[in-house]
Amino acid sequence: MPSPGLLVLFGSQTGTAQDVSERLGREARRRRLECRVQALDSYSVVNLISEPLVIFVCATAGQGDPPDNMKNFWRFIFRKNLPPTSLCQMDFAVLGLGDSSYAKFNFVAKKLHRRLLQLGGSALLPACLGDDQHELGPDAAIDPWLHDLWEKVLGLYPVPPDLGVIPPGVPLPSKFTLRFLPEAPKMCSEEQHVAGADPPGPPSEQQPFLAPMVTNQRVTSPSHFQDVRLIEFDITGSGLSFAAGDVVLIRPQNQASHVQQFCRVLGLDPDQYFTLLPREPGVPCPTQLPQPCSVRHLVSHYLDVASVPRRSFFELLACLSPHELEREKLLQFSAPQDYLLDLIPPIRPRAFSIASSLLAHPSRLQILVAVVHYRTRLKEPRRGLCSSWLASLDPGRGPVQVPLWVRPGSLTFPETPDTPVIMVGPGTGVAPFRAAVQERVARGQTGNFLFFGCRWRDQDFYWESEWLELERKGCLTLFTAFSREQERKVYVQHRLRELGPLVWDLLDRRGAYFYLAGNAKGMPADVSEALTSVFREEGGLSGPDAANYLARLQRTMRFQSETWA
Ligand SMILES: Cc1cc2nc3c(=O)[nH]c(=O)nc-3n(C[C@H](O)[C@H](O)[C@H](O)COP(=O)(O)OP(=O)(O)OC[C@H]3O[C@@H](n4cnc5c(N)ncnc54)[C@H](O)[C@@H]3O)c2cc1C
Ligand SMILES: NC(=O)c1ccc[n+]([C@@H]2O[C@H](COP(=O)([O-])OP(=O)(O)OC[C@H]3O[C@@H](n4cnc5c(N)ncnc54)[C@H](OP(=O)(O)O)[C@@H]3O)[C@@H](O)[C@H]2O)c1
Ligand SMILES: Cc1cc2nc3c(=O)[nH]c(=O)nc-3n(C[C@H](O)[C@H](O)[C@H](O)COP(=O)(O)O)c2cc1C
Repeated sequence: MPSPGLLVLFGSQTGTAQDVSERLGREARRRRLECRVQALDSYSVVNLISEPLVIFVCATAGQGDPPDNMKNFWRFIFRKNLPPTSLCQMDFAVLGLGDSSYAKFNFVAKKLHRRLLQLGGSALLPACLGDDQHELGPDAAIDPWLHDLWEKVLGLYPVPPDLGVIPPGVPLPSKFTLRFLPEAPKMCSEEQHVAGADPPGPPSEQQPFLAPMVTNQRVTSPSHFQDVRLIEFDITGSGLSFAAGDVVLIRPQNQASHVQQFCRVLGLDPDQYFTLLPREPGVPCPTQLPQPCSVRHLVSHYLDVASVPRRSFFELLACLSPHELEREKLLQFSAPQDYLLDLIPPIRPRAFSIASSLLAHPSRLQILVAVVHYRTRLKEPRRGLCSSWLASLDPGRGPVQVPLWVRPGSLTFPETPDTPVIMVGPGTGVAPFRAAVQERVARGQTGNFLFFGCRWRDQDFYWESEWLELERKGCLTLFTAFSREQERKVYVQHRLRELGPLVWDLLDRRGAYFYLAGNAKGMPADVSEALTSVFREEGGLSGPDAANYLARLQRTMRFQSETWA
């Protein structure tokens, strides 16, 4: 049977599902399958009825929500009036990306798999459930699943014997070619591209707002090992608005020294201009890149040259330079530089919980940023791209602008005046609760209970004086856990257990909402465990009943979490 044309459709909030989809695309091409890879919302969904073979790669975002770039598809596919035979010509498979510390683990992939079956599609195999919490990350589930997938697909559509599978050592053609221009264009396409004309709506990924940075203040003591910044932007005239729980997205750029070093090592002239041409028809050029574009702009604003290399990087590099004898081949490939966009991933925007309320700070947006800095076996310490870039900006030395936009958050707070909220936010996890407390206090909402954890009272107790002032005014009840002030660690979950009678009373009798934000590693599971132990001890529930109680809180959105790695 001839190749059916494989379609890979992805829904991705932060890029992982897109990376996996591109990997699928490459693996398909090696097997001589025609393959298109597209975001779900950029695909014309009415054509799905004539697709023979589709792989859906979907992350779960928010509280079990679909990522932004598949929301329209999601609404369409769950329309009640779709006939149950709509997709009876389609073989499909669903690959999910999720995190088992969330209550609705891989909810989108599971629900989509069921829906496609309902609409008559034939599943090639059960949905794959990638899990961030696995020590090997989502690949632990993806690798064996892909192995089975290709067996099924090749069973249906075998590789033509005269062509065979393209072996791993042979590079696939690059996605784009770079056509270098003899001289710089007269009009500066880059400035036009960044600043844009009159933005048509609120700022977005396509048209970010260039927000003036007002302050950038270190809020951990100078002697503390962790640099954390409170950063404030002026959003006057931006059209941005937000509520407690919303998130700001920031597009960082590479340090000038990294840009120079990268160009030097690859023999690129930063001032040279090029136009980008897709090799295959229908493949769009990245919207963030102006045309024509300078090498400097490409490397500063688009290529994530400081990122930890992905597996695909080594796969491609191995094709280009498996050993010394292949040096010539490497030169041959690196000369036209066409593989740059295949080798180096694009810079992804980074999310930060908004830490201020417009009701308390009109026209301002604040974030609390932990600067990522860690050592590996390499000589140079590794620095997080966005947090280090933000930390390096100094509005005291001249105007600084940061491209940003806002996304509705996954944490939502009750509007009733007296529904209590229990907020658990160790470290920078407290950021969204600062916005919530400000908003609730401004609206006269009572019952604000905050559990905050840090290392030492005098090193990393963010907003200490603000919290104490609010407590004094009777607007807030604060519980602290200073993990390193005594021999044994004391964390927020220890306080939750100690305050079990209060926590149980708030949740069971007063209908409180429970929120959790911060580091995804360990903390969410520990806090959930502490909560179920409160349900057992104070509510007298059995183990299974306590677990059901927590599940019910999650289902009814009275337990919400936002955690990050
Ligand atoms: C919804 C949401 C809200 C968020 N809110 C906040 C917030 O309020 N404040 C905040 O500071 N951050 C927040 N984050 C995290 C933020 O988006 C960035 O991930 C963070 O700032 C790091 O980005 P970076 O570009 O500096 O680092 P990157 O260049 O992206 O590097 C980070 C990566 O480095 C690796 N890494 C980090 N530390 C180590 C280590 N010790 N050992 C080995 N590898 C390591 C990990 O792979 C990690 O993913 C939030 C994330 C999400 C999704
Ligand atoms: N790679 C990692 O695993 C990792 C882990 C934590 C933080 N970080 C990095 O550190 C920076 C700041 O992170 P952050 O603001 O989220 O938090 P943080 O400052 O690292 O930690 C805040 C508080 O949470 C405590 N804590 C540690 N494990 C916990 C658990 N299982 N349950 C409850 N509390 C726990 C910490 O105690 P102790 O430190 O005393 O144990 C500390 O008192 C970020 O750059 C983050 O990426 C990385
Ligand atoms: C704010 C946030 C909310 C999340 N919510 C869920 C969730 O409800 N269920 C789940 O299984 N995974 C959840 N995850 C984990 C993501 O699905 C997982 O990290 C995935 O790899 C992200 O893929 P993407 O980069 O393509 O968006 C969440 C992650 C973040 C940062």
